[in-house]
Amino acid sequence: MNVKPVWKFLAIVFVSVLTVCSAVTCYFDLDGSVEVKDIWRMREYSGENGFVIMLPRENELPAIANGIVHGVEDQNSQTQEEIPPVVSEPPLPSWQPSGEYTEIDRLILVNKEYPVDQNYIPADLVQLEYRASNRSAEWQVMTREAADAFNQLCSDALLEGYEIVVTTAYRSYEFQSYLYNSYVEKDGQAAADMYSAQPGKSEHQTGLAADVSSPSVQYRLTSEYGDTAEGKWLSENCYKYGFILRYPKGKEEITGYIYEPWHIRYVGQEAAKEIWETGVALEEYLGKVPDSMSTETNYSAAIDEIADDDR
Ligand code: DAL
Ligand code: ZN
Repeated sequence: MNVKPVWKFLAIVFVSVLTVCSAVTCYFDLDGSVEVKDIWRMREYSGENGFVIMLPRENELPAIANGIVHGVEDQNSQTQEEIPPVVSEPPLPSWQPSGEYTEIDRLILVNKEYPVDQNYIPADLVQLEYRASNRSAEWQVMTREAADAFNQLCSDALLEGYEIVVTTAYRSYEFQSYLYNSYVEKDGQAAADMYSAQPGKSEHQTGLAADVSSPSVQYRLTSEYGDTAEGKWLSENCYKYGFILRYPKGKEEITGYIYEPWHIRYVGQEAAKEIWETGVALEEYLGKVPDSMSTETNYSAAIDEIADDDR
């Protein structure tokens, strides 16, 4: 059969166009749904009206949603869609003062020399408002008066742009026992005794102490916290709310523990102000400096070795 060259050419063009079109249709799945191929690494964004679009991760390939390609610069287009920003909502100050307080001993001393009864459970434990979500809410409680002061501190910090949240506050004798024993197993008793209280000797059991952290250190308990903006704000302002930094730098031989910029203790506003202004440890303020504390313990050596868990 003698086919004219012009018909032959047109037939080749027709077949090529058909092949390209069907390839494109398969890829974009033109019924409107989005087909995510391996190379299109996406994250979802739920728009205001429940619309789901796919956005490219930073520095990665463009994204497709409902057949539209996002993330590609189109110099000629006047109608290029704007990609909505992903906004993470900061926690809002939302607490309310909780009312009547029971009588508490704000100046109770609990340390290596002054234990608290194994069965002691503070009255009036209430849930704190500003909590790290990666910890159990069970241990994010304090006695009511301290809880109100804590919530006010966090609320005011937040208004100034500092997010401070509790990791653990009240801890039962049993929970402290679990923590201490796991540290002994991991680091040995000598190291554990420098940063974790033996059960019955932790002031966390009084409901007056809280460990706090912030996003800048990924909600960890670390000595670096003292150098962060939140840690500095805490150190300089917590006395206004009745709190002290219980284990300050330079007082290790008196408190018996390494510097803990994350551990605050409620003592009431009057005592907190005096302690802040005079720069003493609680033991010094109460005239109960232990004479049996070792001055040979190398507290600074322990800092790099310890874990980032509850302490
Ligand atoms: N980290 C403090 C000393 C405690 O365990 O209570
Ligand atoms: Zn603590």
